[in-house]
Amino acid sequence: ESKRDGQQTYFSWAAAIIFFLSLNDAVQFKFTNFVCDVVNKSWVKLNQCRLRAVNRNETHLNFNLTLLHPVKKEVLVEIQLFKRENGYKPWLYKASIDGCRFVKKPYNPVAIIVYKLFKTYSNLNHTCPFEGFILLKKFNLKFEYLPNALPTGEYLLKLDWIFSKKLQLRTNAYFSFIED
Ligand SMILES: *[C@@H]1O[C@H](CO)[C@@H](O)[C@H](O)[C@H]1NC(C)=O
Ligand SMILES: *[C@@H]1O[C@H](CO)[C@@H](O)[C@H](O)[C@H]1NC(C)=O
Ligand SMILES: *[C@@H]1O[C@H](CO)[C@@H](O)[C@H](O)[C@H]1NC(C)=O
Ligand SMILES: *[C@@H]1O[C@H](CO)[C@@H](O)[C@H](O)[C@H]1NC(C)=O
Repeated sequence: ESKRDGQQTYFSWAAAIIFFLSLNDAVQFKFTNFVCDVVNKSWVKLNQCRLRAVNRNETHLNFNLTLLHPVKKEVLVEIQLFKRENGYKPWLYKASIDGCRFVKKPYNPVAIIVYKLFKTYSNLNHTCPFEGFILLKKFNLKFEYLPNALPTGEYLLKLDWIFSKKLQLRTNAYFSFIED
C-alpha cells in the first residue's frame, strides 16, 4: 500500500515538474524597448540605459545613472501601466508611490511586483537617502513574480521620478508577455 502511495506521489511530482517546464517554455516575458529621459541634468547623469538581446525570449537591461545630489527623503514615483490596443491608450493602472516609505516597508501591490522583478539586479535595496550610482545589471524579466491573470500582450510601464516635487527622470519600459 505505502509503496504504491509513494509511487503515486512520485508520479504526480514528475507530472508537476514536466508541466512546469512546458509552462516555462510557453511563456515569453521580456523587454522590447527601454527609454530613459533625464529631465534635470544637473541632478541626474545618465551613464547607460541599454537593452541587450540575449536570445529569442530574453533581453537584459543595463542601467547606470549618477545622482549628482543626494535624494534624502522626498521621492515620488508615478506609475502608469498601459496595454497596447491600436496604440497605448488609457492606462490600466495608475499610482503614486512614496519611494522612501516604500523601500522601508513595501506597500502597493503593483509597486511590490515591479520591485521584486528588479531588486536582485539593482543596488536599490536599502532605505533613503540615495546618492551616487544607481545600477541595474543584466536585469531580465522573470514571470514567476507576475499575478496569474496578466493577459497576453504588449505593455508599457511608465515611471516618472519626482524629487523635491519636480519631475527629474522618466523611464519607459516596454515589454511583451506572451503565453501560448
Ligand atoms: C528561452 O529560450 C531558451 C532557448 O532559446 C530556453 O533555454 C529558455 O528556457 C527560455 N527561457 C524562458 C524564460 O522561456
Ligand atoms: C535640478 O537639480 C538641481 C540640483 O542639482 C536642483 O537644485 C534644481 O532645483 C532642480 N531643478 C528642477 C527644475 O527641479
Ligand atoms: C557606471 O557608469 C560610470 C560612468 O560611466 C562608470 O565609471 C561605472 O564603471 C559604471 N558602473 C558600472 C557598474 O557599470
Ligand atoms: C544590496 O545590493 C548590493 C549589490 O548587489 C549588495 O552588495 C548588498 O549586500 C545588498 N545589501 C542588502 C542590504 O541586501
